[in-house]
Amino acid sequence: MKLKTAIITGGSKGIGLRIAKSLAKNKYNIVICSRHLPALKKAKKEIESFGVKCIAVKADVSNYTDCKKVVQTALKKLSGIDLLVNNAGYQGPVGKSWKNNTSNWKKTIDINLLGTFYMSHEVLPHMLKKNSGIILNLSGGGGAYARPLFSAYGCSKTAVLRLTETLGEELKGKNISVIAIAPGATWTEMTETVLRKNKKSLDKKTLNELIELEKYGGTSSNKLEEFILYLITSKSNKFSGKLVHVNELTKIKQIKSKIGPESGVLRRVNY
Ligand SMILES: NC(=O)c1ccc[n+]([C@@H]2O[C@H](COP(=O)([O-])OP(=O)(O)OC[C@H]3O[C@@H](n4cnc5c(N)ncnc54)[C@H](OP(=O)(O)O)[C@@H]3O)[C@@H](O)[C@H]2O)c1
Repeated sequence: MKLKTAIITGGSKGIGLRIAKSLAKNKYNIVICSRHLPALKKAKKEIESFGVKCIAVKADVSNYTDCKKVVQTALKKLSGIDLLVNNAGYQGPVGKSWKNNTSNWKKTIDINLLGTFYMSHEVLPHMLKKNSGIILNLSGGGGAYARPLFSAYGCSKTAVLRLTETLGEELKGKNISVIAIAPGATWTEMTETVLRKNKKSLDKKTLNELIELEKYGGTSSNKLEEFILYLITSKSNKFSGKLVHVNELTKIKQIKSKIGPESGVLRRVNY
């Protein structure tokens, strides 16, 4: 059986590593990238324990040359690219916008938006050549609505949604789906850092939500896996250009035909 290939940016830990392991379990060869080698090496071992190949590339997605390197490595060392998961993400400054550090604000856009654009820019010509492929863009908290105290993160994720919609339009009829996904609140290094390091900048509601999240962990690995597998094995590209949320999995499974043009446009899919 010919194995498929997936690139997962930021696949060294958190949600990215969970997605990488789910795909490995389902016979995908994997390419992961992130900025720190020790975490990449550890993740590579975990992914390879599912009997597939895993290539770990040290790369910063906010750097275009690095993105080209990741894609070229995947094409050279594995056969083609079937799936790109733009998962690498950065929380950025937390607190009132006018108190945010401007360099940190820009860095958030560079990683979350430009990283997603650069990777898609490099992968799409290849997918177009073989007339198939899927791109999943991690959106979420603050992407579809204003999220006070997280302006850089929210703006970057909203821009990812508009990029997803735009690519969805540009790729119509091409058998390539670009889908924005909201994985649901999950206890990872990202959320832990907000709670531990930014406590003083948080409002009561956000603080309580994070304290709760630490207790229950948020979206489980099983639920995330079911969600990702459903989206990538769904025959039609009815979700292309839309934002879908992990907690709406049961509902989205019931959608038999095309989703209306206004659904899931800069907001979740409506039913
Ligand atoms: N956790 C949640 O509740 C939640 C909810 C909704 C959406 N999301 C989204 O889900 C994605 C994963 O989040 P997470 O919670 O798993 O975060 P995480 O635990 O902080 O992991 C982030 C991953 O991205 C990598 N990364 C960060 N900056 C990078 C860069 N410039 N270049 C390459 N890799 C980079 C990190 O590795 P290095 O730091 O070593 O580079 C790490 O592998 C993000 O896009 C996030 O916005 C998360």
